[in-house]
Amino acid sequence: MRFAAAPRRMEAMIEAPKGTRDILPDEIGRWQLVEARARETFEGYGFREIRTPIFENTELFARGIGASTDIVTKEMYTFPDRKGRSLTLRPENTAPVARAFIEHQMSRGTGVQRLYYIGPMFRYERPQKGRMRQFHQIGVEVFGSEHPAVDAETLEMVMTYLASLGLTEAELTLNSVGDATCRPAYRAALLAYLEPRRDTLCVDCHRRMQENPLRCFDCKVEADRVTMAQAPLITEFLCADCRQHFARVLAALEAYGIRHRVDARLVRGLDYYRRTSFEVALSGLGAQNALLGGGRYDGLIRELGGSDVPGFGFAVGQERLVMSLPDGGEVRAPGPENFVAALGEEAVGAALRLARVLRRAGRGVVFEPLPDRSLKSQLRRAHDLNARRVLILGETEVRQGTVTIKTMADGAQETIPQTQVVMHLGGSGRA
Ligand code: HAM
Repeated sequence: MRFAAAPRRMEAMIEAPKGTRDILPDEIGRWQLVEARARETFEGYGFREIRTPIFENTELFARGIGASTDIVTKEMYTFPDRKGRSLTLRPENTAPVARAFIEHQMSRGTGVQRLYYIGPMFRYERPQKGRMRQFHQIGVEVFGSEHPAVDAETLEMVMTYLASLGLTEAELTLNSVGDATCRPAYRAALLAYLEPRRDTLCVDCHRRMQENPLRCFDCKVEADRVTMAQAPLITEFLCADCRQHFARVLAALEAYGIRHRVDARLVRGLDYYRRTSFEVALSGLGAQNALLGGGRYDGLIRELGGSDVPGFGFAVGQERLVMSLPDGGEVRAPGPENFVAALGEEAVGAALRLARVLRRAGRGVVFEPLPDRSLKSQLRRAHDLNARRVLILGETEVRQGTVTIKTMADGAQETIPQTQVVMHLGGSGRA
């Protein structure tokens, strides 16, 4: 049967919302590859998967990420539900995972809890290459140890993961942003530097000065960047504990032989970071070159109503990761094991029976009931689908109760009785 003719009057087409996109079957192989490698790698370090809701109570993000951050003030998809509760599509997943950790008392009975997640996040940003309104993150969170070995080992895992995808040129930049002991003195010093220069700073920086002056390092205005280049640095203010913690992280990176750079101006866009904070960039990504980011957030669990449990984690942007995979290693999602080509209406019944027998034997089968198509066009279709073999049911085969099996890799072909197909294919379907 052919498709019904299109109605005469065409309705206006509805497109995907701005800043979102469909991930089509032709590209899904790359997505599945980075996900499979993530699972393999992370599970090898003791991480287990967690899936949290796509939306949360808005307060979670206001408290968790920081009420004055760009994410919370400008970028959240927040809406009232039908009972007037304020809900927000998650802009990131550290706060939700921390919420789940507290809610399910996951600190009970375990020392260190290692969790990972893969899923969509939402930020109302101006879309551009590598920046979407719905994007995807692959991330991990480690709860329960403030030891610098957690930072070092997780960073080592990040780099191992990227290398397993061929991304050996990734550049790790890190900083220590201090903690509750040393940050107040630094904040005061930074404000003392900024106050006399207030008139030269942009309005956003005026707000940042009031709410969190460290955020001025994030300003993209050129004149402000020049001002910030001379500002006092957090590294000069770190307390002894933070200084020692950072030194031990750096020493471990040296011992691993992981290339890295310390940038005392690295301040990330979320308020929960304490001590280690880091980014991994790839030069090929252009303006949005941060492939991933993360750090330590020792105060977050307490801030969200839990006990004093330290945390460390990171999230990689999956769009940016997929975009960065080296060329050449064209990744095709595996196609069907068997494609049944029925030629003519008579062959359809035999095709359905054959497909059922094979599927019951655990084999994968694709059958497209378009029996008017020529063998050539059905073979082309099987090739496009990346099928491993084609089971041909032509007029002769139907008459004789046979099937012709064509192996796509080498074109080899043989005809056998239909009753022997399962035995003939032998082994497992995945072989
Ligand atoms: P983040 O730096 O906001 O950190 O995001 C991490 C990564 O998500 C970025 O490096 C980028 O690759 C990707 N990303 C962010 N926004 C977008 C966007 N609009 N479009 C495409 N990709 C985007 C966090 O989200 C923290 N929760 C990371 C973390 C986990 N820290 C501790 N644990």
